[in-house]
Amino acid sequence: MSGARILAVESSCDETGVAVVVGGRRIEANQVASQVALHAATGGIVPEVAARQQLRWIIPTLRAAFEEAKVTWDDLDAVAVTYGPGLIGSLLVGVNVAKALAVSHDLPLVGVNHIEGHIYANWLTDTDASQPLPPEPDFPLLCLVVSGGHSQLVLMHDHGRYELLGQTVDDAAGEAFDKVGRLLGLPYPGGPAISAAAVGASPATRFPRARTAGRYDFSFSGLKTAVLREVASYRDRGDPIPVDGLAAAFEEAVVDALVSKTVEAARDHQVAAVAMGGGVAANRALRSTLAERLEGMPLLIPPPAWCTDNGAMIGAAAGFRFAAGDRADASLEAIPSLALPWLEAVDVADAR
Ligand code: KG4
Ligand code: ZN
Repeated sequence: MSGARILAVESSCDETGVAVVVGGRRIEANQVASQVALHAATGGIVPEVAARQQLRWIIPTLRAAFEEAKVTWDDLDAVAVTYGPGLIGSLLVGVNVAKALAVSHDLPLVGVNHIEGHIYANWLTDTDASQPLPPEPDFPLLCLVVSGGHSQLVLMHDHGRYELLGQTVDDAAGEAFDKVGRLLGLPYPGGPAISAAAVGASPATRFPRARTAGRYDFSFSGLKTAVLREVASYRDRGDPIPVDGLAAAFEEAVVDALVSKTVEAARDHQVAAVAMGGGVAANRALRSTLAERLEGMPLLIPPPAWCTDNGAMIGAAAGFRFAAGDRADASLEAIPSLALPWLEAVDVADAR
């Protein structure tokens, strides 16, 4: 593949990410400005606030990325940007900044799907230019994408060729972590807080596992209600709520659901490897349980900082799109509900 040096912008939600990535693999800069502390005050993301912060942070983050990579505009081959899915106000900031930069510096523009970015985090490396690149993931690759907005099992046949095997029928895994975190009185975001509370705690109960019609689908809203009922029953009795034990029981149930379906899909489709991506893939219990239950099947998991939203993952996906001749122009628009370009998966749909 080409060794294009791409400036990548990610602004789909509440992280402002700007990165410089070479050949879709080598990170030269990866600057992320997070709004976590800001949204902790409201216990969640307020879209208007998130968009304003994107506007405030995008130029300073861009400057920091240039400094980190020690590059100038002359060294760049393209500008890439997330154009969906995500929050419209947040997306608009990145898309418009990237368009303006591409036009004013006469560089090609590449539009990237955020979910594709989470998948391509598995191609990233921070080995420096003097070292050989580690091998690329093999196909077919089964990808478990678990973020605040998505939970999908994607069978990737080749670059850019995706088949949707299953997805959540209600809440996304990250959304469930965040909602249950709030129920348990833990700080925002719930994912890392629940994970920290669960370390070393024994589960206070065993929450039921959801049944879904689709073989590889997930469902987390029943689990959230079960936690709510459990918390209410402690309150009714006037007993202290065992926050750590309930966090452990909830995490165990989510991890069990995600891992069981992933292992099943990996076996059914005889994949070359399994990969994870998205903020929930930073979860320690999920990482170790999946590795254990795959029993030696090759497993790729990006380091936690590349699982949560960042610009480098957009630069990775853009590297492959750019090499394949994919180009956007000034008509590129932000699309909040953008889906991956699914292959016609006839047998998958019929099996439901
Ligand atoms: O991918 P991401 O950064 O943003 C979206 O695209 O949504 O994912 C954010 C989600 C949040 O719901 C957050 O609670 C969750 O990822 N998350 C975690 C952990 N770190 C972040 N969930 C479980 N365990 C973690 N360690
Ligand atoms: Zn994300």
